[in-house]
Amino acid sequence: MAFNIATMLPFFLSFVFLYFIIANGGCELEQKKMFKVQMLQRNHQFGSKGCILPESRKEKGAIVLEMKDRGYCSERKINWNRKLQKQLIFDDLRVRSMQNRIRAKVSGHNSSEQSSEIQIPLASGINLETLNYIVTIGLGNQNMTVIIDTGSDLTWVQCDPCMSCYSQQGPVFNPSNSSSYNSLLCNSSTCQNLQFTTGNTEACESNNPSSCNYTVSYGDGSFTDGELGVEHLSFGGISVSNFVFGCGRNNKGLFGGVSGIMGLGRSNLSMISQTNTTFGGVFSYCLPTTDSGASGSLVIGNESSLFKNLTPIAYTSMVSNPQLSNFYVLNLTGIDVGGVAIQDTSFGNGGILIDSGTVITRLAPSLYNALKAEFLKQFSGYPIAPALSILDTCFNLTGIEEVSIPTLSMHFENNVDLNVDAVGILYMPKDGSQVCLALASLSDENDMAIIGNYQQRNQRVIYDAKQSKIGFAREDCSFI
Ligand SMILES: *[C@@H]1O[C@H](CO)[C@@H](O)[C@H](O)[C@H]1NC(C)=O
Ligand SMILES: *[C@@H]1O[C@H](CO)[C@@H](O)[C@H](O)[C@H]1NC(C)=O
Ligand SMILES: *[C@@H]1O[C@H](CO)[C@@H](O)[C@H](O)[C@H]1NC(C)=O
Ligand SMILES: *[C@@H]1O[C@H](CO)[C@@H](O)[C@H](O)[C@H]1NC(C)=O
Ligand SMILES: *[C@@H]1O[C@H](CO)[C@@H](O)[C@H](O)[C@H]1NC(C)=O
Ligand SMILES: *[C@@H]1O[C@H](CO)[C@@H](O)[C@H](O)[C@H]1NC(C)=O
Ligand SMILES: *[C@@H]1O[C@H](CO)[C@@H](O)[C@H](O)[C@H]1NC(C)=O
Ligand SMILES: *[C@@H]1O[C@H](CO)[C@@H](O)[C@H](O)[C@H]1NC(C)=O
Ligand SMILES: *[C@@H]1O[C@H](CO)[C@@H](O)[C@H](O)[C@H]1NC(C)=O
Ligand SMILES: *[C@@H]1O[C@H](CO)[C@@H](O)[C@H](O)[C@H]1NC(C)=O
Repeated sequence: MAFNIATMLPFFLSFVFLYFIIANGGCELEQKKMFKVQMLQRNHQFGSKGCILPESRKEKGAIVLEMKDRGYCSERKINWNRKLQKQLIFDDLRVRSMQNRIRAKVSGHNSSEQSSEIQIPLASGINLETLNYIVTIGLGNQNMTVIIDTGSDLTWVQCDPCMSCYSQQGPVFNPSNSSSYNSLLCNSSTCQNLQFTTGNTEACESNNPSSCNYTVSYGDGSFTDGELGVEHLSFGGISVSNFVFGCGRNNKGLFGGVSGIMGLGRSNLSMISQTNTTFGGVFSYCLPTTDSGASGSLVIGNESSLFKNLTPIAYTSMVSNPQLSNFYVLNLTGIDVGGVAIQDTSFGNGGILIDSGTVITRLAPSLYNALKAEFLKQFSGYPIAPALSILDTCFNLTGIEEVSIPTLSMHFENNVDLNVDAVGILYMPKDGSQVCLALASLSDENDMAIIGNYQQRNQRVIYDAKQSKIGFAREDCSFI
């Protein structure tokens, strides 16, 4: 049953969105790009076709999954203005929770012991409002739409019979309809690994051969709990047996009508580790701009001929840090703004996390301040506007038609550059009166820097978990 939401949602979705248009034939200086600042208010109607769930297919031994913004299929009418403003608040929560968890791991303290301080998630994934991209997967004989998250490991879906489920589009996964489903028992080694991955110490009562219970809590009060099960996982006609996932019996939160989450983290419980004999432990994505309704793609498998990259793929080594083994950490060696190299002593030292669920890139305060000073030097002459949540470098561009924005380039070990797409440099939530530099400072010099999804858009980002490297190439995202 390929389900067409048009039949389920007898109404049109309307979108209002605002964005920058790259000036056609506009002059392009070496280190700056010209933009037309245009405030467009559009009403998108999807017509009789409505919202079609993301598709998938197999090609050359890899799987290509279409990725959509989950707002695209939301039951609610989306107010993009509100969504973008709220997004920053949730992004701040996500990053705070992540930093707490990282601090706990690095210092070797049990995160549960610090839970009075702030709500600490037992697993990453943290804040769901910031996780935008959905794909459809098969579990047994049922299709499920899930949010992808490189910041968490366990894949889970809502499961019947539900003690408490939030409302989702399409039927809830029903294990009793599947002959290939088995629940995992407490004495299995997988159940014992669960504790390591999620920090969950209460999976099993001692010597009780009962089902292996899991709990994942997110910083915003959302959670899922249930039991671990194994099932055939399938995409585009390829099936992987004995896939371990969470069968969620008690779920609450802002999951936006999807069935659950697909964990693409680095631990051995994540989807990419579990399928490594089939897909080689490699996946990649191209994140589209969420407000344009474009589809991106998630490719599972190491098949670079499927990409539409515009520049060659360049790979940088992941930094190995046993304390942060669930995360993808890179070695940031420099940043250029408009071709000018920022000077900072932190380059090459520690690392920077790359995450699909954090929106805005976070840098250590000293580095952020140096970058901001250079940006202000080059992007001068515009009236300053008030800060917007975590974004403190804002301008009032009302009445200005065209601006020239300094380019932004991040450098990594092995001479790899991430040239941030022009749509990833400025953030414009409501109109031209408050347009902000889309980067933010961490609160502490020792916190972990993060490359957020806003700066990853229109790039092919390849996660080679097996050879511990990450590749970047420019790509205009579309379902390929
Ligand atoms: C699941 O999706 C696939 C691919 O779109 C489709 O061929 C299949 O019929 C669907 N199965 C169910 C049970 O909906
Ligand atoms: C974490 O908590 C568990 C169970 O409460 C305990 O056995 C373990 O020693 C603690 N680890 C650290 C590093 O405190
Ligand atoms: C699953 O089983 C229930 C009853 O056990 C049935 O009502 C339902 O239609 C089944 N769903 C599917 C997708 O087969
Ligand atoms: C776990 O317990 C079940 C039921 O007691 C038993 O059948 C199974 O062999 C045990 N598995 C392991 C790995 O000990
Ligand atoms: C697992 O969860 C179920 C349902 O909440 C509960 O009945 C069972 O006792 C739990 N098992 C363990 C070992 O905690
Ligand atoms: C797949 O991942 C598992 C768990 O991380 C690991 O033990 C195994 O060696 C990997 N296999 C391959 C072929 O990479
Ligand atoms: C998964 O990782 C844990 C912790 O690193 C390890 O103890 C366990 O053996 C691993 N499991 C597999 C199947 O590789
Ligand atoms: C994936 O492909 C790239 C480029 O073709 C290659 O360098 C890399 O070794 C491959 N990775 C794996 C795990 O096979
Ligand atoms: C990061 O890369 C630089 C330049 O290649 C190297 O000197 C440094 O040792 C690397 N740092 C880490 C933590 O790997
Ligand atoms: C932005 O600039 C315009 C034109 O100069 C002015 O009318 C408006 O009040 C300013 N808006 C804010 C929020 O400062």
